[in-house]
Amino acid sequence: MAEILAIYPGSFDPITNGHLDLIERGSHLFDRLIVAVLTNLEKDPLFTVAERVEMLQEATRAIPNVAVDTFSGLLVDYARQKQAQVILRGIRAFTDYEYELQMALMNRKLAPDLETVFLMPALSYTYVSSRLVREIFQHGGSVKDLVPALVEERLHQKVFQNKS
Ligand code: PNS
Repeated sequence: MAEILAIYPGSFDPITNGHLDLIERGSHLFDRLIVAVLTNLEKDPLFTVAERVEMLQEATRAIPNVAVDTFSGLLVDYARQKQAQVILRGIRAFTDYEYELQMALMNRKLAPDLETVFLMPALSYTYVSSRLVREIFQHGGSVKDLVPALVEERLHQKVFQNKS
């Protein structure tokens, strides 16, 4: 049987333990997994693309079939270029569903051969999002257990360096 390559796309600003949980689950299901960081974000990111890629690379270093890459433009074009068969996305709660369903169906319209596979992270991460992590950290709250230790360090550097 052909190898299955899955793309896990996102902003990853920054990677959370929820993302990492999903990457681990995906790495067991698929032969290869590319975590793909969108470069042309509409929103103003806290971390640069290079910083996000570096954190992802460090956090996934121990998983041999996972690679980190960047993409711009349409996800389906990137997936085609990589000859991927699957788009992997996480669904945490009911509220994610509508947005994810819309994206998955639109991507299917654009590329009927590409399947979107949804996985649920561990229950303990269902409330974790990059946006909340940024917000909590910027207001002095603890993000311990929500992000890998290396991301916590980078958040410190970023937020306190920017303030001085
Ligand atoms: O982590 P995010 O921000 O929820 O990820 C959203 C992402 C990057 C998966 C989505 O915005 C995307 O695929 N953007 C690329 C442009 C594209 O293909 N848009 C049409 C999607 S139907």
